[in-house]
Amino acid sequence: MYFGVDYHPEHWVFPYAGTADDPEARWARDVELMVDAGVNVVRMGEFAWGLYEPEEGRFEFDWMQRVMDLFAKAEIKVVLATPTAAPPLWLASKHPEILPIDAQGLTRHEGTRRAYCVNSGVYWDYSQKIVRALASALGNHSQLIAWQIDNGVGGHETETSFNPETRKDWHNWLRAKYETTERLNQMLGLNFWTQRVTRFEDVPMPMRAPTTHNPALIMDWMRFSSDTLVAYVRMQAELLREITPKIPVTNNLRALWRNFDHFDMAEVLDFVSLDSNAAIKTRSGELAGEIDMMRSLKKQNVRTPNGDCGFWVIEQKAGNVTWQEANSLVRPGVIRLFTHQLVSRGACGVLYFFWRQPRIGAEKFYGGVLPHSGDPDSRVYKEIKQIGQELKRLAPVLHGTCVKAEACILFSHENDWNLKFVNQPTRFFSYREHIQLFYNALHDRNIAVDFARPTGDLSQYKIVFAPSLSLLAAGEADLLKLYVQNGGTLVSTFNTGLVDEHHMAPDDGFPHDMTDLFGLEVKEFDPLPQGEENHMSFKGSFPATHLHPGRIWCDVIEPKGCQVIATFAKDFYAGKPAITLNEFGNGRAIYIGTMSHQSFYHDLVVWVRGLVGLHQLLKVPDTVEVSMRERDGRKIFFLLNHQHSPVRLHFYKPMHDFLTGQTFSGAYDLPPHGVLVLDERADAAHSPPRVDEAAATQNPTARAAETQPTTARAR
Ligand code: GAL
Repeated sequence: MYFGVDYHPEHWVFPYAGTADDPEARWARDVELMVDAGVNVVRMGEFAWGLYEPEEGRFEFDWMQRVMDLFAKAEIKVVLATPTAAPPLWLASKHPEILPIDAQGLTRHEGTRRAYCVNSGVYWDYSQKIVRALASALGNHSQLIAWQIDNGVGGHETETSFNPETRKDWHNWLRAKYETTERLNQMLGLNFWTQRVTRFEDVPMPMRAPTTHNPALIMDWMRFSSDTLVAYVRMQAELLREITPKIPVTNNLRALWRNFDHFDMAEVLDFVSLDSNAAIKTRSGELAGEIDMMRSLKKQNVRTPNGDCGFWVIEQKAGNVTWQEANSLVRPGVIRLFTHQLVSRGACGVLYFFWRQPRIGAEKFYGGVLPHSGDPDSRVYKEIKQIGQELKRLAPVLHGTCVKAEACILFSHENDWNLKFVNQPTRFFSYREHIQLFYNALHDRNIAVDFARPTGDLSQYKIVFAPSLSLLAAGEADLLKLYVQNGGTLVSTFNTGLVDEHHMAPDDGFPHDMTDLFGLEVKEFDPLPQGEENHMSFKGSFPATHLHPGRIWCDVIEPKGCQVIATFAKDFYAGKPAITLNEFGNGRAIYIGTMSHQSFYHDLVVWVRGLVGLHQLLKVPDTVEVSMRERDGRKIFFLLNHQHSPVRLHFYKPMHDFLTGQTFSGAYDLPPHGVLVLDERADAAHSPPRVDEAAATQNPTARAAETQPTTARAR
């Protein structure tokens, strides 16, 4: 297990640290403190281009070599980033054409980072030169275990640019896709407002215009921009593999944020890394969902530095961020809690952003492991040190373990772009919110979840949830049918199959190509004004615990052979189906024609759990998050208390906790923000000695009025 920090040695030279005589003096002290905190890896150099190449063609890598040599003495490994996220100023002066132009035609200027157009041939050339020089100079260093390509690709809304070179690439991309303008006119539907072309060169980029661009054109533009970004990262990955074939490459991604296809991006990487802002106040289910999404990006051909199957968290915020309205401190124990959440969901490397709060620059008030003073007598440093000790103990237990899920939620970037950038029937619908309702319901019942794109291999899942795949390619619809045909259970919803991959609406009913699968046809759909609700009346075995509303959107459904599970209670479609189930091949297809509140999805999960035999990992109070990593049938359970109060657990059979070294049976109060890492095998043959700090933080006798008696029982 890798445990470390993002280190910026360039921030810690004279006059910011060190002395005039020994400008790099602080580095050795940093290494010493890292060793003491249990750090075994650092990431460096993501913005160092201006130091590596202070003038065009004059390369200086010696300083980084010296830092790496210091880490070698301390046996700390290194991930080096290629520095292309921050082009040097001399490059922008010499080649201002590399600066990205935005949708309004305005240049986004130099002086910060990410000021480059990914289509710039000049930028590709300079990137290749610096990457080649870096890999040749430092690629053989004993400490190097991975490359990070660039940093935050697509961040600060740089996924797209509208430069003259972009325009040329765009036309070539369209030419490759459509071959003739006739076909392009047809497939993009350019008879609408007769925006037909006779030359590819006339196809516009979707820049600021009086009104909305053609949706099919917008979709192609997003695909093209995503392909461009992926191609740029692939170019660097291939170059690095050529020079240092044994060193895996990664990239720091953020979940559900940036507008490029992360599944495509993951394909060009050896392993996925992510940036996590877990430390800010967010619902644990949202964080868990993001982690599961990132883990799911790459399920095959994973090549991590130590051969584990998971992913890395290459930037976990060690404290507050600086972009909220009030950037509150992260409370004691919370970084530890969220680190264990990341590990519990498959992380096999965690690095904190950043080692020390810089005294200079735009990010000086981000939380760091060390404060500006560099004094280790700090709250966060001590907490990180404790986590370091804990992960050291967990490493042998977790080695080779993976997260396995029986349930899957589909997510498609194309659909996301469609829902974000194309006019929709309602502004009140949020794809993210809809996915999260399903995810929360599974998460709150401790059912492990993967994500996949509709073209992914779904055969391993007992159930697949496919919320609002509004844009669904014909091939994707076929794959979903095949999944059900072969015995799978598919749960789809309103706002599915409204258009195909060409953004063409069907002429044979919604959801396109799947009316037979669901045994119904959606005749019309009715987006509801905010605050207005219908509600559902249930029939049969659906365990409705509340009156469940239909909000945001109601489908007017004509059943064609499906079973009706619930109907709408009012309006002109009162009595018509709201939820249906259709047997199809060896499986079933469930359709939910509206969006409800969270407790509906909780009930839904109870219902489908019975239908398909989904396993809950452990039965614990709702406020305790459970996840599991397993290998060869050995199961390691993580229990996380996200509450500010203790939660009472009951162990009906002894379970061994790797963090405290204790074996629990009977009642146990999991403290606020407490964590347990349990093995149902109570024999402690494999258990290491007790960790004192962990025991001190987690007082097993802590009690509070809100404790809830319940059961912790392995299935
Ligand atoms: C990350 C980025 C870092 C830093 C951080 C601040 O996305 O990679 O360089 O800016 O955000 O939260």
